[in-house]
Amino acid sequence: MADPKLVKDIVEALDIRGGSTKRRPVHTVGIGATGHFIPSPVARDFCIAEHFHPPSQPEGIPVDVRFSNGMGVVAEHDGWSDVRGMAVRFHLTDGKSTDLVAMTLPVFFAPTPKKFLDFALAARPVRCRRETPWQKIKDYLRLELPMPDPYPGQTERPNEKAIAFANENVWAQPAVIDASSIGAPTSYVRAMYHAVHTFVVTGKEEETRWVRFSWSPIAGVLNTDPLKPPEDDYLKQDLIDRLAGDRTERFSLVMHIGEEGDDFNDSTQQWPPHRKRVMMGTLTLNHVPEDQEAHSEKLSFNPWHLTPGIEPSGDPILRIRKDVYEYSSNRRGGIPCPFSGVKG
Ligand code: HEM
Repeated sequence: MADPKLVKDIVEALDIRGGSTKRRPVHTVGIGATGHFIPSPVARDFCIAEHFHPPSQPEGIPVDVRFSNGMGVVAEHDGWSDVRGMAVRFHLTDGKSTDLVAMTLPVFFAPTPKKFLDFALAARPVRCRRETPWQKIKDYLRLELPMPDPYPGQTERPNEKAIAFANENVWAQPAVIDASSIGAPTSYVRAMYHAVHTFVVTGKEEETRWVRFSWSPIAGVLNTDPLKPPEDDYLKQDLIDRLAGDRTERFSLVMHIGEEGDDFNDSTQQWPPHRKRVMMGTLTLNHVPEDQEAHSEKLSFNPWHLTPGIEPSGDPILRIRKDVYEYSSNRRGGIPCPFSGVKG
């Protein structure tokens, strides 16, 4: 078990002014949807976990999905540049389940929990202002990119402090640079999501592989035009419209296979892009439940909620997320994660 003080300190470092302890401290605004997952014909050769077995029902196994905006801002801010989340729960047989929690950054901000705490404290959102044209010219003369203009309604943001921290801490640079220019997707189903950590999967012949998972949208990736930021509140309605009647949206689950020399325990390190990839299956979304309290607000996903055939790597960030997510879920009164042993 992780140091309980560190867990509490990390969650509290994520709390922002105007946030609420009755809601998630990050990924606060979100929407739940339901659907099903069908594994690809080769999936089971690479991973014997139950959701990669040929399903007993033709429609596949049921899934709950929650899409979210990464910041802890409670007000709708869909048009702002922000990381987005996609948390998936696969419902297996006998009431069991397993989770895959992903976001639109391919790497994380820190290699260890203590370093993440330092980052979270240093990069707390601060008041942001539009830079004057003179300031922007000065930035260019210093060979620095000017800060982007704040979005309508945006008074605070982490960008300034996060960039200053990354200037001093090279491990934070890939995620901070990606996050500061990530933009806003036109739809939650037009973004690519990465589970970031390495997991260890067991194949049909009992061989083990070190892998990373990503969800690739069948509709393709498309961001909004940053010069014409859309409304603050379009992503939920977009999903409701896209799944109305018998309409569906799909994602492919892609598994990247690590090779010798790749970092398996440090999620700030990206693997080379040409690693072997296996198509593990297709997730089809077909419904946005009306009861969003039960299907989004109260749900508690956890990246440690795994099933035989998939093991965690030694990544210390993955390890502390187990306790951080439980602490946060208890604090906000979420339905306990199935592995906690507490009945919801
Ligand atoms: C030490 C590192 C991290 C910390 C401390 C952290 C913290 C948190 C916390 C406290 C929550 C709210 C949990 C709840 O109340 O249910 C959360 C949600 C979330 N996090 Fe993280 N996180 C970390 C790393 C990551 C990484 C690496 C990813 C992407 C793979 C990620 C993606 C998400 C997503 C998508 C949600 C929303 C889940 C939902 O919809 O319920 N986080 N995170």
